[in-house]
Amino acid sequence: MQTVVSLDELRLARSRLGDPVGLVPTMGFLHQGHLSLVRQARQDCASVVVSIFVNPSQFGPQEDLDKYPRDLQRDLDMLESSGVDLVWVPTNEVVYPPGYQTWVTVEQVSNPLEGERRPGHFRGVATVVAKLFNAVEPQKAYFGQKDAQQAVVIRRMSQDLDFPVEIIICPTVREPDGLAMSSRNVYLSAEERRSATVLSRGLFQAREAFASGEREAKKLVKVVLDTLKTEPAVKVQYVSCADPETLLELDGDVERALISLAVMVGKTRLIDNIIL
Ligand code: PAJ
Repeated sequence: MQTVVSLDELRLARSRLGDPVGLVPTMGFLHQGHLSLVRQARQDCASVVVSIFVNPSQFGPQEDLDKYPRDLQRDLDMLESSGVDLVWVPTNEVVYPPGYQTWVTVEQVSNPLEGERRPGHFRGVATVVAKLFNAVEPQKAYFGQKDAQQAVVIRRMSQDLDFPVEIIICPTVREPDGLAMSSRNVYLSAEERRSATVLSRGLFQAREAFASGEREAKKLVKVVLDTLKTEPAVKVQYVSCADPETLLELDGDVERALISLAVMVGKTRLIDNIIL
């Protein structure tokens, strides 16, 4: 496994890899969710490239950029054991050199849900992913369903800008008690960690209601909200029932829906979702 920092080194190392190349973009502090994307890429592709870059432009001024967890050596060990060929760990100066001023904005699908609570977040995500695609030129790129809106934004961006990349969305990997794996889970105290299990419980209740025939968007949302309410430590930001492609909020009976939510548990913001 080769690890590179500069764009020149990356391009040279990339040119020596066998095609197809699969890219897994990450911000590091890897867990089994990230590794599931790596495993899928390993299965599908001749070569696997992973990027590790805590992208400042997708963090708001009040967000956790400075304390975002990092452990590069541990990440590299995990990637080496997972059979990764090339790891790109660019610095801020490599991605955003002095004078940088070009941004990728995906319009409608960036606006609701996370976009409403995190202004500028998806502009940062779309920009860095476009730059990763240009630098690595992968044939396939892997993202997690955990960040459902991010997946929609990236699909749209890639299609609109004619990137010759197949976007592959992999299922959310969960802890045994249902909590979706996230680098941010390390922020949770033991007590908060227990409370956080209510997120997936709420979503699974909605899945059961749907399986039992409930189709009304508002009622499905209420099932989630009622479950979340049983944990006073969990402050709800939103629970949404939206079209999985347009992300527009649904009303009345639904056939397919993205149920997504964001909450605060103490000072930690958590998101989760399921597709019905
Ligand atoms: P990061 O949060 O490190 O996540 C990297 C990838 O892993 C994303 O595609 C994310 O959806 C996926 N992922 C995270 N937790 C997961 C889980 N529990 N199950 C399955 N997949 C999971 O998302 C980002 O970084 C950044 O926004 C990035 C795309 C790298 C752009 O900076």
